Amino acid sequence: MQLTQRGIGPALPGKSGTVREFQKHHHDRTYYDDRSGMLVNGQYRLEKIVGRGGMGTVYLATDTKRNEAVAVKIRDGNTIRSVSPKRITSEIQALSQVRHRNVVSMKDAGTCGADSFIVMEYLEGMDLDRYIAQEGTVPYADAIPILAQICSGLGALHDKGIIHRDVKPHNVFLLRDGTVKIFDFDLSRFSGQEQAELHESRHGYIIGTPHYLPPEAFKGIRPDHRADIYAVGVIMYRMLCGALPIDCDEVAQIMGKILFENPAPPSARNPSLPQRADEIAMRALEKEPERRFQSMDEMRRELQSGAALFLKIPALRFGLGDIGPEDPTVRAGIITQPLLASSDWA
Ligand SMILES: Nc1ncnc2c1ncn2[C@@H]1O[C@H](COP(=O)(O)OP(=O)(O)O)[C@@H](O)[C@H]1O
Ligand SMILES: [Mg+2]
Repeated sequence: MQLTQRGIGPALPGKSGTVREFQKHHHDRTYYDDRSGMLVNGQYRLEKIVGRGGMGTVYLATDTKRNEAVAVKIRDGNTIRSVSPKRITSEIQALSQVRHRNVVSMKDAGTCGADSFIVMEYLEGMDLDRYIAQEGTVPYADAIPILAQICSGLGALHDKGIIHRDVKPHNVFLLRDGTVKIFDFDLSRFSGQEQAELHESRHGYIIGTPHYLPPEAFKGIRPDHRADIYAVGVIMYRMLCGALPIDCDEVAQIMGKILFENPAPPSARNPSLPQRADEIAMRALEKEPERRFQSMDEMRRELQSGAALFLKIPALRFGLGDIGPEDPTVRAGIITQPLLASSDWA
């Protein structure tokens, strides 16, 4: 991964307007500072950058008190959405109440100067975006357990009054054993949050990736947990078809289509899909929140009912890039792992 030298600013984009250009500009603007080697809060030694996105830089770090690997995400005080320490504390308190196998676990948080940091369990594997890119399309039988776990994790958040609001494959992690972890709560809404802050992060949300936003997000209506359900529908569609339901790049066009056009059912793009896949995806993608699944649990149950067909647990393949060269199985080019223990299907 190429890092720009500290202090050298990014070039401004020549032309703006498309999501990709914005993301590129945003990416360049925010991350030219590698703090590897730094000790955060006297406890977390930053080892190397493992991810960079819209809101911060994520490092593999060592918790020097416990001598264990952790992930530390640093939000630069200069980014478009700097966050008050008070808010960080309340967010972390809310998140630390969510102990669920499909939600990344939070360990610590704080501020260093103008910047803030959160400490999480360190995840090894790859994000779902990369997995889909690698696979092209994900077979229905493989997609079900992944989607069901996404539903479980989000359901646990919803139970605590937390709406994720940035559900997309980039923010879903797949561990090597096939366990799914939801992460990246930068845009999440926590119950009791003030309208002003909501507005602030809604702004951030829309300029992120609009493809996963439900129609109500563009109508000035405060999206509720059913916005996350819609986004899982988009993920499902993308996994099964290898394409987004609304597949264009201009923000205004995306918005218009999300509001007024119905996407073709997944089977129109991938004829091998069962009718059930169409029914579930299209229900999650209903324009009116009232017509969607009303809870993550309802969607999960729908995904898993009839899944006895798929009791042979599918395998997850991780590509070469993700696994260290020291791993002997890499020579085969493919690693297969059971996706879920069969007890998870009960
Ligand atoms: N707990 C973690 N363990 C390992 N890698 C992580 C962890 N959290 C984030 N990452 C990596 O950092 C990237 C960006 O993290 P994310 O929280 O999504 O930031 P952003 O808000 O910038 O999108 C992720 O795509 C992932 O590759
Ligand atoms: Mg992210």
